[in-house]
Amino acid sequence: MKYGYFDDQNREYVITQPDTPLPWINYLGCQAYFGIISNTAGGYSFYRDARLRRLTRYRYNNVPMDSGGRYVYLRDDESKEFWSPSWQPTRNELKDYSCRHGMGYTTIGSSYSGIEASTRYFVPLDENLEIWQLTVTNRRATRALISTFASIEFCLWDAQDDATNFQRNFNTGQVEVEPGVIYHKTEYRERRNHFAYFACSEPGAGFDTQREAFLGPYRGWDKPVAVEAGQLTNSIAHGWSPIGAHQVKLDLAPGETRQIVFVLGYHENPVDQKFSPAGSQIVNKTTVRPVIAKYLDATEANAAFERLRQYWEKTLSVFQVNTPDIHTNRMVNIWNAYQCMATFNMSRSASFYESGIGRGLGFRDSNQDLLGFVHMVPARARERILDLASTQLATGGAYHQYQPLTKRGNNDIGGGFNDDPHWLIVGVSAYIKETGDWSILDEPVPFDNEPGSEVPLYEHLRRSFRYTLERIGPHGLPLIGRADWNDCLNLNCFSDTPGQSFQTTTNKEGKVAESVFIAGLFVFAGRELADIATRRGLGEESSSYLAEVAKMEKVILKHGWDGEWFLRAYDDFGAKIGSKECEEGKIFIESNGFCVLAGIGLDDGKAASAMANTAKYLATKHGLVVQQPAYSHYYLNLGEISSYPPGYKENAGIFCHVNPWVMIGETRLGHGDLAHDYYSRINPSAREEISELHRCEPYVYAQMIAGKDAPSFGEAKNSWLTGTAAWNYYAIVQWILGVRTTLDGLEIAPVIPKSWPGFTATRTFRGVVYKIAIERKGEGNHIALTVDGAPIEGNIVMPPTDGRKEVSVKGILS
Ligand code: GLC
Ligand code: GLC
Repeated sequence: MKYGYFDDQNREYVITQPDTPLPWINYLGCQAYFGIISNTAGGYSFYRDARLRRLTRYRYNNVPMDSGGRYVYLRDDESKEFWSPSWQPTRNELKDYSCRHGMGYTTIGSSYSGIEASTRYFVPLDENLEIWQLTVTNRRATRALISTFASIEFCLWDAQDDATNFQRNFNTGQVEVEPGVIYHKTEYRERRNHFAYFACSEPGAGFDTQREAFLGPYRGWDKPVAVEAGQLTNSIAHGWSPIGAHQVKLDLAPGETRQIVFVLGYHENPVDQKFSPAGSQIVNKTTVRPVIAKYLDATEANAAFERLRQYWEKTLSVFQVNTPDIHTNRMVNIWNAYQCMATFNMSRSASFYESGIGRGLGFRDSNQDLLGFVHMVPARARERILDLASTQLATGGAYHQYQPLTKRGNNDIGGGFNDDPHWLIVGVSAYIKETGDWSILDEPVPFDNEPGSEVPLYEHLRRSFRYTLERIGPHGLPLIGRADWNDCLNLNCFSDTPGQSFQTTTNKEGKVAESVFIAGLFVFAGRELADIATRRGLGEESSSYLAEVAKMEKVILKHGWDGEWFLRAYDDFGAKIGSKECEEGKIFIESNGFCVLAGIGLDDGKAASAMANTAKYLATKHGLVVQQPAYSHYYLNLGEISSYPPGYKENAGIFCHVNPWVMIGETRLGHGDLAHDYYSRINPSAREEISELHRCEPYVYAQMIAGKDAPSFGEAKNSWLTGTAAWNYYAIVQWILGVRTTLDGLEIAPVIPKSWPGFTATRTFRGVVYKIAIERKGEGNHIALTVDGAPIEGNIVMPPTDGRKEVSVKGILS
C-alpha cells in the first residue's frame, strides 16, 4: 500500500493521506537556519545547533506522535467550525489533502467545507528565517467569512534545559509585540544577544503570546480555546510558555483567493547595541525590521523561492543519470543526493529519531558522508575536512565526535575507536579525486585544536596510518579499541552495570581484541594513501605503505580467514568472532563486505567465497543483515551488539549503511545483476509499494530495516540521518554505474545488470561537463571508450587540456 506518489518532474514526493505510519519529514534550510517539517506540519526550527539555539519547541516521543509544529487553523466565523488544512492538530476529515515534500520546501494543503487552503514553507538562501505562504481560496457559491490563525511555540533556546529545568524556565519567558510582529526575547536581558520573531503580512485581528491564553487550561493544540472562540486575546507572556499566534480575518467573495505571508526568524544584535533606546530593556530592531518587511512581501517571497529552486537545480545537476530503472533514476538524480546534503548539514543531530540534543558530528560518520556530497559542495567539503582533522590527536587517534558550534572534540565520548583515523584518509582522498585540489594537503592543521601544533594536513594522514601500526594485536591484526565501525561490538567493555555507556566504558586493557574489519579498512585506506604519496613525489614512502598493506593482507588471509569467509574479530580472550566455530554470530557482513571492497582475496577465490556465503547466510528479501545467527542473549564479552533483541540494529538488523559494501564487493567480482539486486532491496523508492510494512519515508534511506529474526521483519526505523545515504550513493554511482572519480580523471567502469541495454549520464567534473552514453553489446563488463569520437586506451577519461568545457564519452560494454 502507498500513501502518496513520486512527482519526479517537480522533484517532489506527494503524500495524499495524512495519517502515514510515521511522520514523513523533510528539511527546510541548507546553510545556518534549519527546520524539520512533517507531512502534517509538525516539527521545529533552529539556528545552526539543534540543541543550543532551538527556536521552537518539540516534544519527542509524545502522544499523539508528532504534535507541535507550524500550525495554521481556519475558522468559519459564521458556522464557528474550525480546522487545520494540514490535518494535524485538529484532525478533521479533509478533502484533497496533499503534502508536497520538495527540495528544501514543503507545501501542505487541503480543502474543507468549500474552503481551499495550502501553506508553502521554506527557508530562503542566505537568510536566518523561514517563510510560510498561506493561500486561501473560497470555492463556495457564497461569500465566506474566515478567520485564519498561525501559531508556534517558542523554545527557550537550549532544548535540553528547556525540557527539564522548569523551576527556572517557568519564570524567564519574555516577549515584545509590535503591530504584526511578535518578538521572543527570553534571556535577552542577560547573556544572549539573539532573539526570535514571528511576523504576519496582513493587518491583524489579534495575537497571543501566552500559551495558556491561546490553548486554554488542560487543552492541546487540537482545540485551542481562542480559536474556538474566534478571537485571540492579545496576551503578553510573562514566564511560563511564550508562543506566537496571529489572527487575520478574511472576507472572501466566491472564487476569491488571498495570500498571507508569515515569517519566523532568528536575529542577532551586536552585544553593545542590544537595546534601543540605549539603557532601556527594549530590543533594538533597527537591523531586523528591513529583513522582516522584505520577506512579508509576497513578490519578494516568491523571488526567494525561485532562487532556492535554482540552487537545488544546480546542485543536483552535477550528476544526472537515465537508466532503465526508475527507482535508480529518481534516487540518484533527486532523493539520494538530497539526503546526502541533509547528512552533510545535520550529521546525526536532528531528525524524527535524533532529538537534536544528543550527538555532535561523528569523525567516522562525517568523513564517510563526504563520499555522498563532495561533488555537490566541494568547497564546504574542504572546510569540513579541515574541521575534522583539527580535532585529530597527535597520536593519530581521533575524538569520536566534535561539536559543530565550537568545532572542538567532545571529551565526554573521547576517542579510542580504532577505525576512526582511517576514515580521514578515505575522506581526503575522495575530496582530491573529485576536485584535483592537491593544495588541501598543505593546509596547516592543528592537533586537538591546539594553537601552535599546526602541521600540513598530509602529516595528519600519515599519523592516521601509523596509528594502526602502533596498535597491532597478537595475530598481527589491528586492535579494536572501544569499537570499530560497529559501535556496538565492544570487546573491551565487559559492562554488567545498568546505565553505563557501552561506548565509553572500558574494563579491559585492550591489548588482545582485534578487528578484521579495521584490517580491511587499513588495506583500503593504505592504498589510497600510497597513491597520494606517489603523486606527491614520495615514492619511497609510498612503497613503505604498500609494503605494510601487503603484510596486513597476508595476515588477513591467514588469521582473518575462517575457511569460507572472513572472520569478524578476536575477542579479549583471543577467541574468534564471526566463525563457523561460534554458536551465534558465525558470519558478519562488515569484514566480508569491506575486505572484498578493498580487493582482498580477489585472486585466490576467497573474495568469491566470502560473497557467496554472505549471500547464503545474510541476504534476505529486505536486504542483508549484519550477522547470523543473531545473538539470543547478552554476552559480556561482546557488549552492546548483544543488548539488542534479535533482528534489531547491530544484532542482525538490516543495517542499510553496510549493504553497499557488499554491493561494491559484488561489482568487484563482476556481478552486476546481484549488485543491483541488493541495491534494489533497500532502495526506498523500490519499497514504496510496501509502505505499510516499511513505515518510514519511501523517498529516503533509513539506518535500519528489521532483520529476519525480528517480529517486524521489513520495518524500517531511523530514517534520514545515516551513513546509508552516502554509501548507497557511492555504490550505485561509482561502482554499479561505474562513473568513478580517480586522482587522475574520470574512470568509466560500469558493472550493470545484464538486462540493461545501457544508460546515459551527465557528470560535471572539475569544471567540465561529461556527456556519457553506455551501450551494451555483450553480456560482460569489458568497456571500450571513445572520447569525442576518438577511441582511448584504458577506461580513464583525462580532463581535456585544450579548454573544452563539454566532452562526449561513449562506452561499449561487451
Ligand atoms: C551508527 C553510527 C555509526 C556506526 C554505526 C554502526 O550509524 O552513527 O558511526 O558506524 O551506527 O554501529
Ligand atoms: C548505539 C547504536 C549505534 C550508534 C551508537 C552511537 O550504540 O546502536 O547504531 O552508532 O549508539 O553512539
